[in-house]
Amino acid sequence: MFPVKIYKQRREELKRKIKSGVILFLGNDESPMNYTDNAYKFRQDSTFLYYFGIDEPSFAAVIDVDEDKEIIFGNDFTIDDIIWMGEQKTVKQKALRCGVKETFSMSQLESFLKNAFSKGRKIHFIPQYRHSNMIKLQILLGIDATRINDYASQELIKAVAEQRAVKSSEEIQEIENAISIAYEMQISAMKFTKAGMLEKEVAGFIEGIALSMGSGISFPIIFSKHGEILHNHFYGNKLKDGDIVVNDCGAESLLHYASDITRTFPVSGRFTQAQKEIYEIVLYAQLTAINSIKPGVSYKDIHLKASTVIAEGLKALKLMRGDIKEAVEKGAHALFFPHGLGHLLGLDVHDLENFGENNFGYDNKIKRSSQFGLKSLRYAKALVPGIVITVEPGIYFIPQLIEQWKAEKKFEEFINYEKLEAYKNFGGIRIEDDVLVTKNGSKVLGKPIPKTIDEVEAIASDKV
Ligand code: GLY
Ligand code: MN
Ligand code: MN
Repeated sequence: MFPVKIYKQRREELKRKIKSGVILFLGNDESPMNYTDNAYKFRQDSTFLYYFGIDEPSFAAVIDVDEDKEIIFGNDFTIDDIIWMGEQKTVKQKALRCGVKETFSMSQLESFLKNAFSKGRKIHFIPQYRHSNMIKLQILLGIDATRINDYASQELIKAVAEQRAVKSSEEIQEIENAISIAYEMQISAMKFTKAGMLEKEVAGFIEGIALSMGSGISFPIIFSKHGEILHNHFYGNKLKDGDIVVNDCGAESLLHYASDITRTFPVSGRFTQAQKEIYEIVLYAQLTAINSIKPGVSYKDIHLKASTVIAEGLKALKLMRGDIKEAVEKGAHALFFPHGLGHLLGLDVHDLENFGENNFGYDNKIKRSSQFGLKSLRYAKALVPGIVITVEPGIYFIPQLIEQWKAEKKFEEFINYEKLEAYKNFGGIRIEDDVLVTKNGSKVLGKPIPKTIDEVEAIASDKV
């Protein structure tokens, strides 16, 4: 945990933003894999971690803004629990570590909330993503579990999202700790990968690194020679010389801050000429985007700038043609770059995503586009100092999408479908780093991870 004063300060700041009512925070429970005692790895809710730091299942907390009270709800271990799980600190001791003095057993939460509700006081809660907590809220508040999120407090969403989005120096340090694990995962994968291996041999190896150095992976690893499948979690392909692999992976630090890094490298250690040409475009798009980051600039504009670099690069290779400004405006480049440039990063790898991207990534000035490609941009609004955002452009050759657009004769004025035939088995290339928005510009966090063609080839050809 962070020192106690950090949690106290965070709650004080929240109390300044929420004028009245009761704020309810539900921690997560164990989540059964196939029966109750065989659970998935426990992951605490990130907002609960942020304000209370208690990294254990079955806790809840309340901030009573009107009466200026903070209470932790949880149950002490019984002797039966201790036999199976060992001795534990008491709820009281755990609460004191985050600076909360008052504690009650979990069964008292219902009567506390009923009492507050009967007095007509507003009960604020954030959107829920676990069904067990939706059911819990149905029991506690009498709202149909399937409609819980319709009743989430917009005032609380805005306040928590604003606060969590901007990172303090200790949080940046945690993210850098997570990136140093991702560094090892990336370098190890480049060295360990050899022709003849299955993808899963490498994916399993680097997942072990995340577990041994921190709190495990921050999202299921994407390690695939089919990088054109954006969130590909299948690891059954056999790797051969000539293949390139997209390795999109990240770890959680001990305090559960995330990293999210992508590198693309050749199995043989050497890129082919065609691979180099596409790689250089993606790298230039990424560097251009990073160099354009500064407070006040919208991330949508930076996304479009990266898109323009991609489209211009593809025009130079004669895969695109025509007026590139118009092609990007109309979304023709999204055939090759169908996702957004990046997302916030913090306690969640897609930070704050459970608040709804439109609630924190867009505002009155920038509304979400419905255009293919641009609609997938998770964060579009003006950048502010202290946020951490991923910069992850890519170029992909998705055979089914190419076939569909070609059959529809879509954007024929911008896309050279004939030349594209030779790229149908190319796969994809993505390069991703985690970037802090500073007062005047940006900073790529963590120790630099090899990224130029020469750097990647040097590591990937140094097989262990
Ligand atoms: N790790 C998935 C992503 O980059 O969004
Ligand atoms: Mn990623
Ligand atoms: Mn990402």
